[in-house]
Amino acid sequence: MPLAGKRILLVISGGIAAYKSLDLIRRLRERGAEVRPVMTAGAREFVTPLAVGALSAGHVYTDLFSREDEQDVGHIRLARDCDLVVVAPATADLMAKMAHGLADDLASTVLLATDRPVLLAPAMNPKMWAHPATRRNVETLRRDGLSFVGPNAGEMAEGGEAGLGRMAEPLEIVAAAEGLLDGGQRPLAGRRAIVTSGPTHEPIDPVRYIANRSSGRQGHAIAAALARLGADVTLVSGPVALPDPPGVRVVRVERAEEMLRAVLAALPADIAVMVAAVADWHVAAPGAEKIKKQPGKGPPPLMLAENPDILKTVGHHEQRPKVVVGFAAETQDVEKNGRVKLEKKGADLIVANDVSPQTGIMGGTRNSVKLITAAGVEEWPDLSKDDVARRLADWIAGRLT
Ligand code: C5P
Repeated sequence: MPLAGKRILLVISGGIAAYKSLDLIRRLRERGAEVRPVMTAGAREFVTPLAVGALSAGHVYTDLFSREDEQDVGHIRLARDCDLVVVAPATADLMAKMAHGLADDLASTVLLATDRPVLLAPAMNPKMWAHPATRRNVETLRRDGLSFVGPNAGEMAEGGEAGLGRMAEPLEIVAAAEGLLDGGQRPLAGRRAIVTSGPTHEPIDPVRYIANRSSGRQGHAIAAALARLGADVTLVSGPVALPDPPGVRVVRVERAEEMLRAVLAALPADIAVMVAAVADWHVAAPGAEKIKKQPGKGPPPLMLAENPDILKTVGHHEQRPKVVVGFAAETQDVEKNGRVKLEKKGADLIVANDVSPQTGIMGGTRNSVKLITAAGVEEWPDLSKDDVARRLADWIAGRLT
């Protein structure tokens, strides 16, 4: 129960997602946390201080210049007298102010004055999230050491528009908060990690593609586990049907070429864990139009061309991360093939598993792996993919300290 007895300062800024913050307060309190809410003027247009106060069972702080509030705790104490500051929703405007150190209301002043960890749950229209100004501000805030959870992809509350910008769900925010408060066990704080996950889609024409059965579960779990240990994680993911792991920067790609570009763009890093099931080949000349059936001519030939090997590129890169981990999904000679890969790809560790259909590993929730390093082979028992991720993150932390 990492939240039990913890004091959380919850800053609610003005977005429609503020309605989810009411549920967030309940979820945090259910886990034993004490929640002190600060609301911006914008937030008060969406939810009332009365509702927020009723759920948090305490005073709601709204005004920088309120004599009553200042006498109660004062904004500096409010900023420091907590274990964690959570900003949910974090609007584009509030993040812009934070990135520039502005402090013209209680929320922004508290955020400038705090020396506690800060977790942001952004929520905004997808175009606002994608805007170069927001990208710059997010990057600045990350560099300043602030953590993020979400935003997620999906329908906007106001309807009609979909994309990246939905606030993370209350339970995801809770999980990210727990991760940040987890006994201070953050051996990867200050380390950068790149994780690839999921399959790649290699287009045949505008409507068809070559893919594989990878679900992304293992890669996503590893990204989340590294983030929990404090790493600044970039997850480069092929198309998957999974929510973004909390506290992780997600770059979505389709093709192997795009995945390689995104991975190289994320260098330099201390850790690279290449989990994606990257297609070995792409269609050499994908059709610009949908390929039509040609009666009497039989199926069209598909010429394939080799994809770049992302792991091998990273393993031999001049900015090679200190720890490079690859996966080897095999259906035969798991150990032998793993050893060959270790050498060929320039990895420090190959996590080898048998993905024969009867194992149910590919697309499933469990995994049994062998760890192959220059020093030898270690076999782990059958574990959930989350447990494999946790143990692997610990293993990586051990290599770096
Ligand atoms: O060679 P093979 O595909 O079996 O190697 C698996 C490992 O290499 C995995 O870690 C996978 O993510 C990585 N890989 C890659 N780029 C490729 C093929 C595999 O990064 N084109």
